[in-house]
Amino acid sequence: MNGEGRSNKPWGGRFTEPTDAFVERFTASVGFDQRLAEHDIQGSIAHARMLGKVGVISEAERDAIVTGLEAIRADIRTGDWVWSEALEDVHMNIESALVGRIGEAGKKLHTGRSRNDQVATDLRLYLREEIDVILARIEQVSRAILDVADAEAATIMPGFTHLQVAQPITFGHHLLAWFEMLQRDGERLAECRRRVNVMPLGSAALAGTGFPLDREFTARELGFETISRNSLDAVSDRDFVIEFCAAASLILVHLSRWSEELVLWASPQFDFIELPDRFCTGSSIMPQKKNPDVPELIRAKTGRVSGHLLSLIMLMKGQPLAYNRDNQEDKEPLFDTVDTVQDCLSAYTGMLPALRVNRDKMLSAAQTGFSTATDLADYLVGKGVAFREAHGIVGRVVNHAASEAKDLVDLSLDVLKKFSPVIEKDVFDVLTVEGSVAARDLPGGTAPDTVRRAIREARTRLGVS
Ligand code: ARG
Repeated sequence: MNGEGRSNKPWGGRFTEPTDAFVERFTASVGFDQRLAEHDIQGSIAHARMLGKVGVISEAERDAIVTGLEAIRADIRTGDWVWSEALEDVHMNIESALVGRIGEAGKKLHTGRSRNDQVATDLRLYLREEIDVILARIEQVSRAILDVADAEAATIMPGFTHLQVAQPITFGHHLLAWFEMLQRDGERLAECRRRVNVMPLGSAALAGTGFPLDREFTARELGFETISRNSLDAVSDRDFVIEFCAAASLILVHLSRWSEELVLWASPQFDFIELPDRFCTGSSIMPQKKNPDVPELIRAKTGRVSGHLLSLIMLMKGQPLAYNRDNQEDKEPLFDTVDTVQDCLSAYTGMLPALRVNRDKMLSAAQTGFSTATDLADYLVGKGVAFREAHGIVGRVVNHAASEAKDLVDLSLDVLKKFSPVIEKDVFDVLTVEGSVAARDLPGGTAPDTVRRAIREARTRLGVS
């Protein structure tokens, strides 16, 4: 038969014409999946060792493959490497380079394997590593939060609901709320990591393989905790990518909420904090501006990451078993999610220790808005008044104080007594913001000593002292 015009692809045997140039570009993924090169080689080395162990290839072939792959890895690391779009993806680029280097033995690497279980394995190896990086960054941010919380355990600020002054709290307590969000994020990722850490190799294209592969051996080589239990599921499952992106989206939702607070607090209207100059930028026209661009961008990137989550869900929802090429589209959203989460966490490790806290401004803001009104109601309850009754009395006191442009603590005892005869001189202890926070000393509360205890417990949870 005339060989002219035939496909020159590794899979080209049954094709009678070359791939259309557009299709070649449209289907290629090497532009982005080259990022999996290290993991692809790691997986291939383990597969080759296993093939040697079970005798599907000879020991000499195994050694040639492993040495060849290691040399390819070294070349890729030096950056002295050209990826070929004609070879579609990272897998075929590396395999074809291997055959080019070591000849016949290289052609045996793919025995009992398909790109379908190969790419699923690469992706899991990649994500496991990146999750560990993210977990380490979560721990760094957690420590930074605790350090600031420690310094600000007794710093009084207004606590808000509806962004209206509600009750006085301590800044340390507020920061511990951030800490809790982040600990849940870490737990979610650790949970997700367990389901990432499952090995698909041995599933081959979809149905498994007749070669006597030792899957447990390969899994041990690659540090996988278990092997997949169903080949159809293993080659097509991307739940772990979606789960990761869901966990990442929640991390970003948290960072976005903090960022919104930083933006508000850094505004001259609040003036609670100052961000370090090195984390701000200026305006090209207004010379006075110092803008909180980093928190603003973190807020924006939350939309981008949760968009990736949605795109991955849409990617999966129509796919029949088993592998479909749709799955090639999982990589760009995943990679971008990983990069974005890691950067945003790093931003917080940089910003938190450098926050300048304006304690006076926080305190005076806490003294506005009748923030101790609940304390007055609780005081009346202590004197035998039913809470709902007390609520009404204090409402009238607040109304009166507002009409005189005074805070509760500025009203005289005589005036207060007109609203309720049970009020005595000791009321002024509870009307101060210091008294208010000190009273809230149940576990989980905002009292400075309670916050200090919570910080000690948090440090124990992190394993730091
Ligand atoms: N580049 C592909 C991906 O990312 C690799 C698997 C291709 N498998 C196939 N049968 N075409 O999913």
